[in-house]
Amino acid sequence: NNMFFRKGQSQLDGFILSLPKEPYGSTSDESLYQYEGFWYYKSDLQGAIISQKTLVSVEPCDVVLATFPKSGTTWFKALIFTIMNRNQHNPCSSTSSCSNSHPLHFASPHDCASRWLEHYAYKNPTNPVPDHVPILSTHMPYHSLPVSIKSSCCPIVYVCRNTKDNFVSLWHFTNKMRSNKLPPISLGEAFELFCRGVSPFGPFWDHLLGYWKASLESPNKILFLKYEDMKREPGVCVKKLAEFIGYPFSHEEETQGVVQHIVEFCSFENLSNFEVNKMETTKSIAPTLTVSNNMFFRKGQVGDYKNFLTKEMIGILDAITEDKFKDSGLNF
Ligand code: A3P
Repeated sequence: NNMFFRKGQSQLDGFILSLPKEPYGSTSDESLYQYEGFWYYKSDLQGAIISQKTLVSVEPCDVVLATFPKSGTTWFKALIFTIMNRNQHNPCSSTSSCSNSHPLHFASPHDCASRWLEHYAYKNPTNPVPDHVPILSTHMPYHSLPVSIKSSCCPIVYVCRNTKDNFVSLWHFTNKMRSNKLPPISLGEAFELFCRGVSPFGPFWDHLLGYWKASLESPNKILFLKYEDMKREPGVCVKKLAEFIGYPFSHEEETQGVVQHIVEFCSFENLSNFEVNKMETTKSIAPTLTVSNNMFFRKGQVGDYKNFLTKEMIGILDAITEDKFKDSGLNF
């Protein structure tokens, strides 16, 4: 692996620069690169390729959480962490004595027992997953996933969200994350690019379809979940999620209301009010990209797109979605 990296670093740069490229925002220096049919920021792509080449085993992980960006990754990380650790850490959201000692009070869901594969591989190219990490998260499309993930017995949970809310959430996040040296991307520009499939880890529809088809072929390996279903029927979805990742609820737990406690503990209202999740301190994730804990909590609602998209935009996104998903059995 080290060999690959020592020899490969400049080759990798050269390879990426040879790929199809699109400016991300008409007036900006930021570009996305197309690899195996999907668009990436350069740093994410470096990490993705390094992980493809070097990730020999995911033995140290308990679950892979795969998502399209802004589909609910933060929420599902919190849910999975809380489900897995419910015996050690009581997920109590009330003001009673048990409420303040849970690890999610002290660390963002992104820092709590989880690691983002592409980003970690980009920062640690010689050792993409060094030690035990309960939750390995990725935005990589299914067909580009490292073989070691596909062939391991580690369950994959995939989360997606309706096109319109996902797009609006992504547009907000893109501009927050972007270096303030670059001009923001207008809604119109982002829309035009998104519809052509040009967005980080896009095309959106192909990302969902890849995991959807894989989940139909391997239902025991891949659980396909929707943000909206978790909102509408959180109890049912949390039980399904817990069972799938190997932490089912006992009858006793169910009668004690543990499922409901987890739902409430991980709700947007509860999590977004933790001081740690309000933190604005930014950290650099790539030369032109920074994140802070509070960026991962905006509104957490279904249907917020209505406040941003015109009727015409809604019509266009609905038409593309219908066309792409027809005959697949996937719908929103
Ligand atoms: P909005 O921008 O629509 O508010 P990701 O975690 O994949 O980056 O996705 C972020 C989106 O999930 C944001 O959507 C964010 O507000 C929402 N979100 C974060 N935590 C949530 C929670 N506990 N429940 C529901 N939505 C949540």
